[in-house]
Amino acid sequence: MASTTEELPIEKPTEQNLVDKTSSSTVEEQELPAHRSHDPQYNQKRSDPFQFGSRYLQEQDNVFEFNAWDHVETDDTYKEYAEQQIQMQRESPVSDFDKTRFNSDPAKWWNLFYKNNTANFFKNRKWLQQEFPILGKITEGDAGPVTILEVGAGAGNTAFPILANNKNPKLKVHACDFSKKAVEVMRGHEAYNTEQMQADVWDAAGEDLPPGLEEGSVDVVLMVFIFSALSPSQWKQAVQNIYRVLKPGGEVCFRDYGRGDLAQVRFRKGRYLDENFYIRGDGTRVYFFDKDELHKIWSGDIFSENEETSDETPSDKKARAQIPSFEIEDLGVDRRLLVNRAKKLKMYRCWMQGRFRKK
Ligand SMILES: C[S@@+](CC[C@H](N)C(=O)[O-])C[C@H]1O[C@@H](n2cnc3c(N)ncnc32)[C@H](O)[C@@H]1O
Repeated sequence: MASTTEELPIEKPTEQNLVDKTSSSTVEEQELPAHRSHDPQYNQKRSDPFQFGSRYLQEQDNVFEFNAWDHVETDDTYKEYAEQQIQMQRESPVSDFDKTRFNSDPAKWWNLFYKNNTANFFKNRKWLQQEFPILGKITEGDAGPVTILEVGAGAGNTAFPILANNKNPKLKVHACDFSKKAVEVMRGHEAYNTEQMQADVWDAAGEDLPPGLEEGSVDVVLMVFIFSALSPSQWKQAVQNIYRVLKPGGEVCFRDYGRGDLAQVRFRKGRYLDENFYIRGDGTRVYFFDKDELHKIWSGDIFSENEETSDETPSDKKARAQIPSFEIEDLGVDRRLLVNRAKKLKMYRCWMQGRFRKK
């Protein structure tokens, strides 16, 4: 399965896709996401030391000189390849039998995943503080009592690096995952310390709040490549749960797969569950988001659109009033062109990143 750092099967080079068509768009013309690292004044054109969002490909650059570039739009060859692939995927969906098999107990497949992979499978998320400055603030020595909830924490590759950089004695990280095996892995980690961390089994799309957390008790919710593991039918319940557990003014830090990412485009026959929703070879599910759709999900518009009727009864009205609605503080598309310099190949990756605040 794919993580942000996974080596992907590589796009075949053609005369056409080796010609850089992105160089015609200048830094000024591009819409830049509002993250600290994505400021054109820090144009580094280098990947070491690693700095997200600061490697701008410009006219005079040789695309194969460095191994990654930021904010790069896909070229026509890739767009055409992506369209053909998605059409092929739709024509060969997962069978109804397998849909039921994979959708009925998704935790089972994630348990298997963590059984088969070591805790090192996901790379530690070193970029977190750079992308989400709130994490720097709340881990300062004098930040005072702060509660973080990490949803779908997996093997702890986000939670442990946060604790490793933490200077706040009053910080508590609740790291939850619906996979028992993942929680075992976190609890068995050498840095697991129950004074600052609590790992628990919790289904983000279930009816209950996470163990030990009450309504309105969390300052920051972290969601790193978890929302994509839910089926669209689970989005509302999950967003509702996050809304309930956050304090008013609390923040969600979100990063996940974006539509058109090579991980989506490269799916072969028999993997398509629904539009933009796939089953990986290991039985885990993955959805690829679009910016407008994410905006609608977290602002609640997507749920009220579905429910609003002209002959609304008072109880319908009440139900609609319970639709969670977050303030969308940032929502950006992080596009990157990864380059295999030895083979002269280009790979287009696309992730969504946002911060949502409980009003
Ligand atoms: C792609 S992994 C990401 C893990 C971790 N956030 C990271 O970035 O390393 C997705 C994780 O979400 C968990 N997950 C999937 N559906 C979930 C649900 N309904 N409730 C809680 N966790 C879930 C999976 O078990 C898995 O650990």
